[in-house]
Amino acid sequence: MRILVAGGAGYIGSHTCVELLNAGHEVVCADNLLNSKYESIRRVEKITGKTIKFYKVDLADYEATKVVFEENKIDGVIHFAGLKCVPESIQVPLKYYQNNLDTVFVVMQLMKEYNVKNFVFSSSATVYGDPKVLPLTEDCEVGGTTNPYGTTKYFIERILMDMCKADSSLNVAILRYFNPVGAHPSGMIGEDPNGIPNNLVPYVTQVAIGKRPYLNVNGNDYDTPDGTGVRDYIHIVDLAIGHVLALNKLATGSGLVIYNLGTGNGYSVLDIVHAFDKAVGRPIPYKIAPRRPGDIAACYADPAKAREELGFVAKYGVDDMARDAWNWQSKNPDGYGEEQ
Ligand code: NAD
Ligand code: WQD
Repeated sequence: MRILVAGGAGYIGSHTCVELLNAGHEVVCADNLLNSKYESIRRVEKITGKTIKFYKVDLADYEATKVVFEENKIDGVIHFAGLKCVPESIQVPLKYYQNNLDTVFVVMQLMKEYNVKNFVFSSSATVYGDPKVLPLTEDCEVGGTTNPYGTTKYFIERILMDMCKADSSLNVAILRYFNPVGAHPSGMIGEDPNGIPNNLVPYVTQVAIGKRPYLNVNGNDYDTPDGTGVRDYIHIVDLAIGHVLALNKLATGSGLVIYNLGTGNGYSVLDIVHAFDKAVGRPIPYKIAPRRPGDIAACYADPAKAREELGFVAKYGVDDMARDAWNWQSKNPDGYGEEQ
C-alpha cells in the first residue's frame, strides 16, 4: 500500500517508516518539521535502502496538504502529527487544541475528497486518566484526562467514533500507546527532544552522556512496590510494528477498532534507572525529588486484545530498551544535530 505518514519525521513516525518500508509499503511523508529534522528521513532511507517521498507541509493547512493527496494515490494514512508536550499544553492550551485537532480535520476532509478509507491514529494511554483498575483494557473508562494534551487525544477519539458511525466504509484504528522508549538497534534514528527532556528515558540518557548532572526521581512515596511511579514501557520498534499490523487489520474492512499498544509489564522509575546502569556500565546518578504535579502512581496495559486481533506481541524487554536508547544517545550525543 502507499501510506501517507503524517508527522513521519518525528520519533515514532521515523521508526514506523522503517517498518512500513521493510514490510513492502511505499511511504509518502508529510511533516512541517516543527519538532523534528529532515535528517531522520535521510537516515530511514539509509537503514532501509529505500526512498521516501517527503513534503514539508503544515497539515493544518488545507490547501498545502491537498497537494500531497493530489500528487499521490494514497491508500491509507497514519497520523502522528501533533504536539505532545504535557506541561506546554497546560501553558498554551489553544495551540494544542488547534494544531492537534486541525491536522486531523484537514487530513480527514482530504481523505473524504480523495476516497481514502484507512486511518491509523496515535492516541495515548493518557485518555484513561488516573486508572481505577489495572491492567487497563480498551473497555476501561476514558475521558478523565488531566491536561489539554490528553484531552486533545480524547476529543479526537470521540470525533473519529462519530465519523465512523456516519460512514460505515471508513476503517479507523485508534492506537493507545503506553510509554514508547528506546531506538532503532542501528543507532541511526532515535528520540531527539528539544531542550530539557520532559520524559524519563531521554532525561536518563542525557545524564548518562554527561549533559545533565543527575536524574530527579519524581516521588518515592507512591503506592507501588518501591514507591516510584510504574509505567508500561514499550520498545519503539515493537510499537512501530504495531502500526503495520494495524494497517493489515484495516485492510480487512475493520471499521473502527481500538487497541492498547503496551507490553503488559509495569516497571518503576528505579527499575528503569537500574536497566540503564547495566546498559551504560556505571550507575546513573539520581536524587529523590517531589512528585510531578498531575502524575499517577501506576499505569500498564492489558495487551491481550492487540495480541489476539492483530497478532501484536512485544519482543523487546526493558534491558533491550535501555541498550538501544543508550546506543542511539552515545552515537548521536546531539541527536540529529543542526539541520544542513
Ligand atoms: P514527535 O514530536 O517526535 O512527532 C510528531 C511529528 O509531527 C513531528 O515530526 C512534528 O514536526 C510533526 N507535526 C506536528 N504538528 C504538525 C503539523 N501541524 N503539520 C505537520 N507536521 C506536524 O512525537 P512522537 O513522540 O513521534 O509522537 C507521535 C504521535 O504519537 C503524537 O501524536 C503523540 O501525541 C503521540 N504519542 C506519543 C507518545 C510518546 O510518548 N512519544 C505517547 C503516546 C502518544
Ligand atoms: C515516566 C515516569 C515520572 C521524568 C508521558 C505523557 C503521556 C505519554 C507518554 C504522550 C513517571 C518519572 C519522569 C523525570 C521522573 N505521552 N519521571 N523523572 O508521564 O508516564 O507519560 O509520556 O501521549 O501522555 O504524560 O512519562 O516519561 O514523563 O514519566 O522520575 O525526570 O518517570 O514521574 O513516573 P509519563 P514520563
